Amino acid sequence: MSKILLLGSGELGKEFTIAAQRMGQTVIAVDSYENAPAMQVANGFEVINMLDGNALDAIVSKHKPDFIVPEIEAIRTERFYDYENQGYTVIPSAKAANFTMNRKAIRNLAAKELGLKTANYRYADSEESLRKGVAEVGMPCVVKPLMSSSGKGQSTIKTDSSTPLTDQISQAWNFAIEGSRGDVVEVIVEAFVEFNYEITLLTLTQNNGNTLFCPPIGHRQERGDYQESWQPAPMENTHLEAAKKMAKAVTEALGGSGIWGVEFFVGDDGVYFSELSPRPHDTGMVTLAGTQNFNEFELHLRAVLGLPVSEITLERYGASAVILAGKHSDNPELEGIEKIASEPKSDFRIFGKPTSRPYRRMGVVLTFDKVGTSIEEVTQRAKDLSGLVKVK
Ligand SMILES: Nc1ncnc2c1ncn2[C@@H]1O[C@H](COP(=O)(O)OP(=O)(O)OP(=O)(O)O)[C@@H](O)[C@H]1O
Ligand SMILES: [Mg+2]
Repeated sequence: MSKILLLGSGELGKEFTIAAQRMGQTVIAVDSYENAPAMQVANGFEVINMLDGNALDAIVSKHKPDFIVPEIEAIRTERFYDYENQGYTVIPSAKAANFTMNRKAIRNLAAKELGLKTANYRYADSEESLRKGVAEVGMPCVVKPLMSSSGKGQSTIKTDSSTPLTDQISQAWNFAIEGSRGDVVEVIVEAFVEFNYEITLLTLTQNNGNTLFCPPIGHRQERGDYQESWQPAPMENTHLEAAKKMAKAVTEALGGSGIWGVEFFVGDDGVYFSELSPRPHDTGMVTLAGTQNFNEFELHLRAVLGLPVSEITLERYGASAVILAGKHSDNPELEGIEKIASEPKSDFRIFGKPTSRPYRRMGVVLTFDKVGTSIEEVTQRAKDLSGLVKVK
């Protein structure tokens, strides 16, 4: 049996660990605080700051894992190259973890090297160069730190704002630099894509070279985090094929086996590649509703272990809606879960996070129905049910 060092122990790591436990694997769950969700179901745990390379080295040499599985972005991922050189297997690969944590690296790869269609963009390393960038890409546009996640440090610059443009740009610059992880003082400014919808295309790369795709997942974002996701996302076949082609190209260029969440915008003028996660994606929690023969965590595990998956099938229509906390608490409790429990074709997960803060994701509502029913109805039901739960 294998030993897995899981770097990041949130709700996605918890489901991954449960999948691993079901296959008799050993998981050491790591995070910056004790009793994190995945630690509750793992064989062992470590509490470290994963941005501290020395602390990371110490637990790698202590546990000598067969697989290093990152679950979050905020890790000193440069060290992953050393681990690979020492003979460790990083999932999906050191390159994937490194490139995807920096918007510049992944954008250069996708747009310049692979020629994928993306929003028009510029980089800026000062307020002055941001001014130039905004003028070049046009408005509205989105300013993002090169290193950040969950929409942190992102803002939109618009023509129809009551704030003068010069002030909007200063604010966007300062907000991005404050919201930036690490010491990188550079941002990307992207033309705002007036998309009709956005999707996550979960893509499975395997060591036998057989890349598979999950049915596309639709999602709605607010404050930089997803609120609802649904599968399958209704979409034109030509767009889906274009997305698959791009997902294959970018995952192949980054290398290794695992599940990837490849994000796209779909507009009147086609499919735009946005970014990707080299690990299970939060919008992919919808697969916990039984939408597929294997959920995204089971797929990731199989890819990690080198167990071949021959097909991914759509079994149901499903949706997920997040349950968010409203305030800080050192002893959060979810109220109203029985209302979800009593509903047909519904399920839920409670993550067991030891503390809450405003907008922290504490659980998820899952709804489902037979293939061929209404995906809009299934999604609306998830949304309505999540409104019945309160975090106290
Ligand atoms: N250029 C753009 N045009 C239109 N909408 C955008 C653009 N860039 C980002 N968005 C919106 O903001 C969301 C978050 O952006 P993005 O995925 O780049 O950030 P993130 O911080 O990596 O988010 P996460 O980590 O939650 O995936 C997107 O899913 C999309 O809804
Ligand atoms: Mg994103």
